[in-house]
Amino acid sequence: MFNELDFPPSIDLARLPTPLEPLERLSERLGLQLLCKRDDLTGTTLTGNKVRKLEFLLAASLDAGFAGVITCGGEQSNHARATALACARLGLDAHLLLRTADPAQPPAASGNLLLGRLAGASVEWITAEQYRERDALMAAAAERLQQQSGDRYDVIPEGGSNALGAWGYVRCAQELAHQLGRVAATVVYPVGSGGTAAGLIAGCRLLDLPYRLVGVCVSDDRRSFQQRIAAILRRFAERWRLNVASDAEDIELWDGYVGLGYARSRREELACIADLAQTEGLVLDPVYTGKAMFGLLSELAAGRLLGEPIVFVHTGGVFGLEAQARQIEALL
Ligand SMILES: Cc1ncc(COP(=O)(O)O)c(C=O)c1O
Repeated sequence: MFNELDFPPSIDLARLPTPLEPLERLSERLGLQLLCKRDDLTGTTLTGNKVRKLEFLLAASLDAGFAGVITCGGEQSNHARATALACARLGLDAHLLLRTADPAQPPAASGNLLLGRLAGASVEWITAEQYRERDALMAAAAERLQQQSGDRYDVIPEGGSNALGAWGYVRCAQELAHQLGRVAATVVYPVGSGGTAAGLIAGCRLLDLPYRLVGVCVSDDRRSFQQRIAAILRRFAERWRLNVASDAEDIELWDGYVGLGYARSRREELACIADLAQTEGLVLDPVYTGKAMFGLLSELAAGRLLGEPIVFVHTGGVFGLEAQARQIEALL
């Protein structure tokens, strides 16, 4: 029924396919059909959207004979945690460049950071200003570590969001094709560094799926994400000679849901997380999925019409909840 795809080499890290589940009570309340693609169930600690990308990225690191990888993120980065755990599982070293307010006083290990440290990753703390130069800093770290140890280190970009990592979400689109079929569905997902978006867009193009894909921007504005996603798609198209390139303006993203800023929550977003936990037993995170679900429910409440079923992609992130425990508790 669907075209066969020629995937690049990958290793098994995620529990796939993830389930596609109806959100029954919420659907009844809203008077529409809402489903959840449970990518939070790719694993327990190795959970979330990054695991799909790492299946391709780390296969390439191993194949090229790297002894370790370097990646980056915020202090509670899900991607850094998933990379650290996956590296430990594969016998690779992990070195993380993490952004924090004051590198001289790094945060105590909790949530994602605790898990990354537990998996043996080494952490280099950098300021938000240094983080803007993250790619150069990671390249410098790779050279430094090689000089110190004699081993070669691969560099994985922020969020695992490059053309190779995007194949993880081509695979997700393929799963959706089998689970949903060719229907006029709308697929809503959070956008943080663009790799999930690029993979879903590429997958729908390659499989000729009629889904409307809508990304909710959680950390930057629509225009800059459109550019980033279009750039990943261009590289994907060049590297594998596949017709997936897209005009930036054709990539549907919603602005307006960054709220107070990256990893900072408004009361109404946390209330939305509590609502989903209490209505469906579904636990969202405050940094990505909570904002994306708040965006979806706000748009529906404002009368936005979307083809059904609506599929919300739960991209994981549960360990980020702890960082906002006090604010959440105040709502209960
Ligand atoms: C839990 C979670 N959801 C969504 C995203 C956004 O995905 P992407 O970086 O592919 O845009 C991230 C990471 O940025 C994440 O950790």
